[in-house]
Amino acid sequence: MSEDKNEWGSNLSFILAMIGSAVGLGNIWRYPYVLYSNGGGAFYIPYIVAILLMAIPFLILEYGVGYNFKSSFAKAIRKINPKWEYLGWFLPVSVFMIMIYYSAILGWDGIYVVLSLFKGWGADPNTYFTSTLLQSTGSNIGLTSFIPVIAVAMLVGWVIVWLISHRDLEKGLGKVSKFLVPLLFAIMVVIVGFSLTLPGASVGLVELFNPDWLLLTHFDIWMAAFGQIVFSLSLGMSIAFTYASYTKDNADLITNTISIAFANSLFENFAALGVFSILGYMSVQSGTPVAELVTQGTGLVFIVYPIVFNVLGQWAYVLGPLFFITVYLAGLTSILSTIEPLSFSIQNKFGLSRKRTMTILIVIGAAVSMIYATAIGSYVLGYVDTFINQIAILLGVIFECILFAWIFKAEKLIDFLNARSKTIKLGRWWILIVKYILPIFVSIVWIGGMVDVISYSSYDQLIVTVIAAAALLIATFIFTILPAKNPDWDSVDERV
Ligand code: PHE
Repeated sequence: MSEDKNEWGSNLSFILAMIGSAVGLGNIWRYPYVLYSNGGGAFYIPYIVAILLMAIPFLILEYGVGYNFKSSFAKAIRKINPKWEYLGWFLPVSVFMIMIYYSAILGWDGIYVVLSLFKGWGADPNTYFTSTLLQSTGSNIGLTSFIPVIAVAMLVGWVIVWLISHRDLEKGLGKVSKFLVPLLFAIMVVIVGFSLTLPGASVGLVELFNPDWLLLTHFDIWMAAFGQIVFSLSLGMSIAFTYASYTKDNADLITNTISIAFANSLFENFAALGVFSILGYMSVQSGTPVAELVTQGTGLVFIVYPIVFNVLGQWAYVLGPLFFITVYLAGLTSILSTIEPLSFSIQNKFGLSRKRTMTILIVIGAAVSMIYATAIGSYVLGYVDTFINQIAILLGVIFECILFAWIFKAEKLIDFLNARSKTIKLGRWWILIVKYILPIFVSIVWIGGMVDVISYSSYDQLIVTVIAAAALLIATFIFTILPAKNPDWDSVDERV
């Protein structure tokens, strides 16, 4: 395994790949709703605080440590303290589990790219999505009904991922990011530009931004802002770490962090403009208040949008495909990042090549993902998503924070990062944030998520959660105890 297979060709590849990872479904289907339901214009206060207080300081830490070790997450954690190797696998495996269900959403969206060419969802998009396409049922019987169209659409996604990921880093992911990420932004500009000209757009926007200042005193909206930022920027998921370890010497990580956080926010706020202009248009056409149309997640993308396209007339044949392609590209550039931490950790520990590791992981991922091609797929997906995002990853983030800031000692990075920074310089404030404020805040968000899951879960959700948790813990355990095959496993060069 030669080192250069896992190195970015330029700083631009690194930044664009990071933006590609951050900008995903969370920006398109989650953020507009979170903004709307948490105080509208007033939400910008907790949102900006979350970015400045948490996202940027934490990303700098994650990048800094990743850059320092120039090796995979598991290997670096082991170097910091061998007793923690388990954590070194826990986060990469969690992120790989995200990959598996992201492939299902990508598959659904791929189907909608085709359907949008002829409004193939018919006059009742709700029934089409839930009953005709997904044949969705919460009952266990659903496990035995397999839906070939979805399986094929998902496999197409896996093949695309394989074609990109099995190549050397710069030739695959680097090159593709430089092309797809600007394309994604460009298409989004076209969609939003068009949406803003629709009659009624302003109705949606007034509804969206109308500030509810009173909500600022509610704890919930602060939690929503922190939760959104963790998900949207893929914070603490070992992705930023891995991507930074692939950078060449002399990268200006502080400035890169600011650019990435800025691009991510720009994109999601732009998406919010588009989504609410379209909802405003729909509201004026149908006489239904915006509040009754607004939703998030698959309901927004696969139900509300098709309903709007049905009303939109001829323009829908342009806007529809463009919209579903945007979702596809956003999902694709994110899913590509979810395999990197686990893949690199495996390469490091077991001495396998990048190509081989990617092929094995993608075959396993594709096989397991077939559960989402059954009639209970969409239920399982929702439960696994909640477990991974609200419980597993946040827990990993808390431990990562402690390990990096306290045990590795964040102070060690300051001079080194400052020397390369053309913008902000770190000081004691940064240490205060990463050592105290961050772990405390993330713990609070984590407790909030746990309370949610425990108090609102159904019996089925509990079962799926236990199975997902067991799979995660067992896989993590196996990777930790398997003996290393690579003689270099315990020798790590540090750059700082
Ligand atoms: N940040 C991505 C989004 O906003 C989601 C994601 C999570 C991507 C985890 C990669 C890993 O949709």
